[in-house]
Amino acid sequence: MNDPGYRVLDPAELAAAGALRQFSLDVLHGLSEKPKRLPSRWIYDGVGSELFSAICELDEYYPTRCEAEILTRHAPEILGHTGTGPIDIVDLGAGDGRKTSIVLTATLKQKRDVRYVPIDISQSAMQGLVKDMRTRHAGLAVGGLVGEYFDALTWLSQDTTRRNLVMFLGSNIGNFSKVQTRVFLRQLWEALNPGDLVLIGWDLKKDIDLLLDAYNDAKGVTAQFNLNLLARINRDLGGEFDLKNFRHYATYDVYSGAVESYIVSMVRQSVAVRGLRISFDFDEWEPIHTEYSYKYLQSDIRTMAADTGFEIVSEYEDSRRWFTDTLWRVTKEKPRA
Ligand SMILES: C[S@@+](CC[C@H](N)C(=O)[O-])C[C@H]1O[C@@H](n2cnc3c(N)ncnc32)[C@H](O)[C@@H]1O
Repeated sequence: MNDPGYRVLDPAELAAAGALRQFSLDVLHGLSEKPKRLPSRWIYDGVGSELFSAICELDEYYPTRCEAEILTRHAPEILGHTGTGPIDIVDLGAGDGRKTSIVLTATLKQKRDVRYVPIDISQSAMQGLVKDMRTRHAGLAVGGLVGEYFDALTWLSQDTTRRNLVMFLGSNIGNFSKVQTRVFLRQLWEALNPGDLVLIGWDLKKDIDLLLDAYNDAKGVTAQFNLNLLARINRDLGGEFDLKNFRHYATYDVYSGAVESYIVSMVRQSVAVRGLRISFDFDEWEPIHTEYSYKYLQSDIRTMAADTGFEIVSEYEDSRRWFTDTLWRVTKEKPRA
C-alpha cells in the first residue's frame, strides 16, 4: 500500500498529548515559582480518583454523607422544578457519581426522558463511572465527556430542546478562589439557556476542629491523596520524588475561610524530573501549596447567585446544617425589540 507520507492524528491521541503537556507545564511553572504550588486537579489520575472514593468513606469526611442525606430527602422536589420534558443531567467533576445516582434513580422512577452527561478531567474515573452507571441504571442514556469544566461549558447550550440540570456536587466549587468562583458561575450562566437549573454543593463554615479533622484523617488517606501529586509526577513525568521526605499538611485560614492543603519538604533536597530535564530545589520545611477548600455562609452564597445572574429556587441543608445544596435557575432578560 502507498505510504501517503503523513498521518492524521486521532483526536483521542491529541487530547492525551494535550493533557500530558498541560501537566508538564503546570509542574514546571508551579515548582519554579516561589512560593511553590501545584494545581489539585492533577491529583485525579486513576490512583487519585480511587483515593478520593476512599476519603468519602472516612468517618472524618462528613461532606459526602451530608450531601447524600440532602439528595435522598429532596431529589423528587429538585426534579419537580425541572418540568416534565426531556432532561440532561450534567454532572461537573462527576467522580464516582455515587450521589448523582440518587437523583438519577428518582428521575428514572418518574419515567422522564433523561440523558446523563458526566464531565470529568480523569479518564479512569470516567471509565469506571460509565460502566457503573450502566449497571446500576439499566437503559440510562450516558454521554460522558473527559475534559476540563471550562471546555465542557461551551457544549451545554447547543441543544435547546432539552432542559439542563447542571450538578456541581461535593463542594468542588470550594476549590476555586472567590474570584474564580464568580468567573466560573458567570461563564456557566452564559453557557446555559433560560430556565436551565444548577444544583451546587457548598461546604458551610462550622466548628474549625471538624474542618481540620476532615482534611487530616487518622488513617492518613487524605495525606496519601495529596501526595499522589508527587507520585503522579514520578509515574507520568519521570520524577524522582522520595515521598518519605515530604508530608501532607492542612490548615484553616480564618480570614479567607479556606482549608489550605500543602505538601511540605521535610529536608533540604534537589529532585530531578527527567521528563522535564530539570531538577527542583527544596529548602527544609518548604511548602508546595496544592489546594484551597473554601467554606461559605448562606449569605455569601446568596450574594454569589445575585452577582452572577441566577435566581435562587431553593436552599437545602442536611440535618446538622454542615453542608448545603443550592438550586438556582438561569434567568436572562429578553433582548429589547
Ligand atoms: C472532589 S471530587 C468530587 C466528585 C463528586 N462530584 C462528588 O461529589 O463526590 C472532584 C472530581 O472533579 C474532577 N475534577 C477536578 N478538577 C477538574 C477540572 N478542572 N475539570 C474537570 N474535572 C475536574 C476530579 O477528577 C474528581 O473526579
